[in-house]
Amino acid sequence: MSYMKVIVGITGASGSIYAVSLFRALLRAEVEIYGVCSQTGKAVMQMECGVGQADFPFVQWSEPDDMFASIASGSDCADAMVIVPCSMNTLSCVACGISNNLLQRAAAVILKESRKLIIVPRETPLSIIQLDSMLQLAKAGATILPAAPGFYKQPQSIQDLVNFITERIMMQINLSK
Ligand SMILES: Cc1cc2nc3c(=O)[nH]c(=O)nc-3n(C[C@H](O)[C@H](O)[C@H](O)COP(=O)(O)O)c2cc1C
Repeated sequence: MSYMKVIVGITGASGSIYAVSLFRALLRAEVEIYGVCSQTGKAVMQMECGVGQADFPFVQWSEPDDMFASIASGSDCADAMVIVPCSMNTLSCVACGISNNLLQRAAAVILKESRKLIIVPRETPLSIIQLDSMLQLAKAGATILPAAPGFYKQPQSIQDLVNFITERIMMQINLSK
């Protein structure tokens, strides 16, 4: 059993398949997984992947309006948080220090406690406001890891493309195979 604690935040951006894949990888790595899904994140995940929180019973879920959840506090802070996929809404809020829901609050805590925050944004094209928010987050210590898989390994399936990003995330939290 690894003693790592990782928070996975799922927002209403397209690409919840990346979160599903990350859950499987974190489970294999025997990480303690905390999950928080924004309200739109739940709807998009159901629409795109046909799954919901109940399909991941090994994740310790908290509701997005539950500011009393353990991940809302810096005491006993997680080692890392991955926001995947990350909407421009959540990205901009976290960049401005806004904590309107538990997902945003957990990210703010990870930053203030100098833990690893990995943001997987999904939007295209990007406005100057969104690019500036990414710059602010990078300056604050976050890792911006766009959902932009490489094609040089000759992917044969969508899952191959998803695995590319999952592996990059796992590398960032030192859990690569
Ligand atoms: C089907 C669907 C796909 C969406 N895809 C994206 C996306 O890729 N990127 C994005 O920034 N917003 C996307 N949105 C919009 C966000 O869901 C919306 O801005 C929402 O307020 C985000 O809230 P959250 O950050 O609390 O999850 C999408 C919305 C829907 C319904």
